[in-house]
Amino acid sequence: MTARGRPPLPQGEVKARAVRGLFDTVSPRYDLVNRVMTFGMDVGWRRRAVRELRLPGGALVADLACGTGDLCRELQRNGYRAVGFDFSLGMLERARTDAPLVQADILRLPVRDGTADGATCGFALRNVVDLTSLFAETARAIRPGGRVVFLEASEPEHPVMRVGHRVYFNRVVPLIGGALSDREAYTYLPRSMAYLPPREELVAMLRGAGFPDARRVALSGGIAQLLVGTRGGP
Ligand SMILES: C[S@@+](CC[C@H](N)C(=O)[O-])C[C@H]1O[C@@H](n2cnc3c(N)ncnc32)[C@H](O)[C@@H]1O
Repeated sequence: MTARGRPPLPQGEVKARAVRGLFDTVSPRYDLVNRVMTFGMDVGWRRRAVRELRLPGGALVADLACGTGDLCRELQRNGYRAVGFDFSLGMLERARTDAPLVQADILRLPVRDGTADGATCGFALRNVVDLTSLFAETARAIRPGGRVVFLEASEPEHPVMRVGHRVYFNRVVPLIGGALSDREAYTYLPRSMAYLPPREELVAMLRGAGFPDARRVALSGGIAQLLVGTRGGP
């Protein structure tokens, strides 16, 4: 138990199994809870994420941790060829996209080196067991000059906003999740923010993985963020 009487957050394989099970459980109402708890802002964040790719039409983009396929649909709307990867069968079964979907661990993508022109990844940084491995595996799968965009939740920088955000995320989100889906899962998800390294470290990690121009873009006053980068090469 931690000082506040909560069990410590899981690590390693235990975490991977817990995350897969959690998303299998929440999959039937995942989209609904997302829309309600973000007041629909998640739709705009995904649009912005895809806009930041800036790849030519027809480019092949791997959507990592695609879940129910929202980013795949947005990619296709923007003229890209999307392929989704996720390890939760529950999420994949509920996906609303005609993009090809692959059940796979995004830390071990079933693709050859340099296959994709780009990658997107929505709200999965705090769910993987090892961020360094995720960035390295993404770099392996992307051709030199390819582009990546990671979308993730974030804490606002402004101290007042940060307090309000913490109350909303830690107290209100579990209530919304409990009413519409699964209380335990939506108590864990805000707690899982603790897995995220500080923003400067995230950017440094992505640069170190082979995206030398990586930068961070804060969205909606800092409650969400994009990490954007171009694959160095060859
Ligand atoms: C919060 S959901 C995000 C889904 C979608 N990207 C979106 O924007 O709504 C996180 C997803 O990451 C997936 N995931 C987490 N770790 C993964 C891993 N190592 N391999 C594949 N999928 C993973 C989960 O199954 C879940 O579908």
